[in-house]
Amino acid sequence: MGFKQKLVDQVRKPSGRLGKIIAKGMNKGHAKLAVWGLSHVIIDPNYIILDIGCGGGGNIERYAKMVLNGKIYGIDYSGTAVYISKEINKRYIEQGIVEIYQGSVSSLPFTDNFFNLISGFEAYYFWPDLTRDLKEIYRVLKPNGHLILVNEGYISNNEKKRNKAKKWSKLGNFPIHTPEEYRKFLGEAGFSNIQISEEYKKGWITAIGMKKL
Ligand SMILES: C[S@@+](CC[C@H](N)C(=O)[O-])C[C@H]1O[C@@H](n2cnc3c(N)ncnc32)[C@H](O)[C@@H]1O
Repeated sequence: MGFKQKLVDQVRKPSGRLGKIIAKGMNKGHAKLAVWGLSHVIIDPNYIILDIGCGGGGNIERYAKMVLNGKIYGIDYSGTAVYISKEINKRYIEQGIVEIYQGSVSSLPFTDNFFNLISGFEAYYFWPDLTRDLKEIYRVLKPNGHLILVNEGYISNNEKKRNKAKKWSKLGNFPIHTPEEYRKFLGEAGFSNIQISEEYKKGWITAIGMKKL
């Protein structure tokens, strides 16, 4: 198996010793993208937030610094990702601000109407049934709550970035979408007030949808 194939398999589901390195590496490698994505939402210090496909837990840590009176949850189906996320966020877990679980987007271990904000950074590509999984996210969002998807792989008008994204999507056998397709699949899952933002030069996209009141 080639290096790129190994890499794409590991970002899909980090495992073992290499997975630990990859999970930590994604925290660094995705930091600028995540900060840009989060500049599109208001984060209230009282929010209850879920990060799905939390990988190495870098975004959980980012949230924990902002949400002083709320709570941050993380979920990932990779035991290795959960291990690194817990290690990185040890002090916040001890303070009771953060909880991290191993589990799937398809069956979230939370009650209905629980979260103010749910995020997926570089994550939705790997969800097994996008519309069904988005409906599961919708279920656990509070009315007026928001889902934010932040990705660097999408079908953009920037030819160079688009071709690069297409290569990875083919190698990893995962879908990527146009901004119009984001609107469509978020709408089909029930989300309203859909906002798409693009960072053309970098080839980044942020898609936000709201749960109706
Ligand atoms: C590309 S990594 C992104 C990690 C992190 N969000 C970041 O931006 O650095 C995708 C993560 O999603 C997780 N994942 C993939 N499919 C999942 C699913 N069905 N349910 C929960 N987590 C999943 C993987 O284990 C992996 O940690």
